[in-house]
This record gives sequence, C-alpha cells and structure tokens, in this order.
Amino acid sequence: MIIANFKSNIVNYPKWVDDFVNSCPPVEFYVGMAPPFINIADAYPEIEFWSNRDENDHDMWDMHTGAQDVDYSSGSRTGAISVEMLEKHGDITFVIIGHSERREFFHEDNDLIRKKIHAVNASNLRPILCIGETKEENKEGITKDVLKNQLEVIDGLNLSRDFTIAYEPVWAIGSGLTPEPKDINDIHKYIKDVVQSVSANSLVPDVIYGGSVTNKNAKSFFVEEFVDGALIGGASLEGSTFGEIVNIWNEFII
Ligand code: PGA
Repeated sequence: MIIANFKSNIVNYPKWVDDFVNSCPPVEFYVGMAPPFINIADAYPEIEFWSNRDENDHDMWDMHTGAQDVDYSSGSRTGAISVEMLEKHGDITFVIIGHSERREFFHEDNDLIRKKIHAVNASNLRPILCIGETKEENKEGITKDVLKNQLEVIDGLNLSRDFTIAYEPVWAIGSGLTPEPKDINDIHKYIKDVVQSVSANSLVPDVIYGGSVTNKNAKSFFVEEFVDGALIGGASLEGSTFGEIVNIWNEFII
C-alpha cells in the first residue's frame, strides 16, 4: 500500500495524475491519495478516469482518495467534517488519523485520537493511524514505550480488517533523515505484536512507513520484511516521483 499525503499544499490534479500514470505501469495494489478536503472533488474524477481505463474494460488501478483527518462527531461543530459526511460523499475510502502535525499544531492527544479511531473503525472507511516518536524520545531510547502509549487508543477494540498503522518518526518527517531500514523493520514487528495483543480480535495490521521516503531511498525500506508500504508527503507532490515510488513497491509484491 502506497499513500500520498498532500497536506496543505496546492496541487494541479490533472497534471499530477497525468505525470503519475506516465511514470509507472498499472499496479493492482492499494494506491491512495489524500488531498485537502476542498480538493477531493478535483482529485477523484481524475483518479476514477484512470482507474477504469483499460482496453479490455478491466480496472487498471486500485486507486483511492482519502481524508487527512476527520472529526469524531457531527452536528453543531463549526468547520468540522464528520465520518458520516465522508461516508456519504462516496468517493473516500480511507482516513489518516493522529498525524504528528495534527498532534503538534492542533494539540490532538490520545483522548481525541481514541474518539476518532472509534468513529472511523465503526464506519466502512479504512483507518490509518499515525504514530511515532520525537528525536528526544528516540535519543532517550524510549521509542517503543512511546509507541505503546500511542497505541493505547485501540485497547480492547474490535479492529476492522483493513485497520492500518503508519509508523512515522516525528524527526524523520520532512527532514531528509530516516531511521536505519533494519530499525524500521524491528519497530514494525513490534507494532504488529502490540496491536495483536491489545486489540479484541487479535488483528495483525499492515504497518506502513512514513518520514522522508523518496524515489531514492524507498527500495532500502521496501526490502524489509515487515514494511507493508509507505505514507509519503513531500515526495508525493510530483506525480512522476510518486509514480516512481509506486513502481518500486510493485517490484516487491509480485
Ligand atoms: P514526508 O512526510 O514524506 O514529507 O517526510 C511524511 C508524512 O508526514 O506523512
């Protein structure tokens, strides 16, 4: 699974999709794009067009649009987008929850993230929960404790089958720095074990890696056994670069 997170950036969607489809052959695995809410209507028709474009009338791509965040409730909550609204929209299949930028700039804590996770887990949208440690926590050697604490939001929950975790060290996001691939692999195995032991249905989730993934370093992460894909910010803003990364993942799942 490879996901593009456009964050709060302006993207030319027809050009992006054109560059993307011209840079890699059709793939059958889950490829997602998370535009800002206001651009979902620009992005989806482009994706849908290519998803259905095959001379034999078969789907060429398993492409999805998703949301970068969601509110856990609805009604009198000015400015918020609810889970129900995303479901009713119809073109959205996944939601990113608990991104470190939401935690840092919008003060989202475990209590709020737990409510969001519960709301999305009960819907038919795929939750992608982001967790990760800061540089200081990493230096202190408490990464696993931090992740375990962030995973408390799923304690006792019957997780949906497609529940996904994105491991995103805060210090790796947008910095050009990354952990060693072997360390990422070790953390991903740890996350799978924790989720399996704390979820009510013992789910072993897909765990994707995020934090300065590019077309240059993607391969070094994708060779690792417990890396199930990537969540990509900066390098996803050019359709051709994102396409190259999708292409690299394609080599590992055949
Ligand atoms: P980055 O962002 O690829 O720019 O490091 C990743 C993310 O925040 O999901």
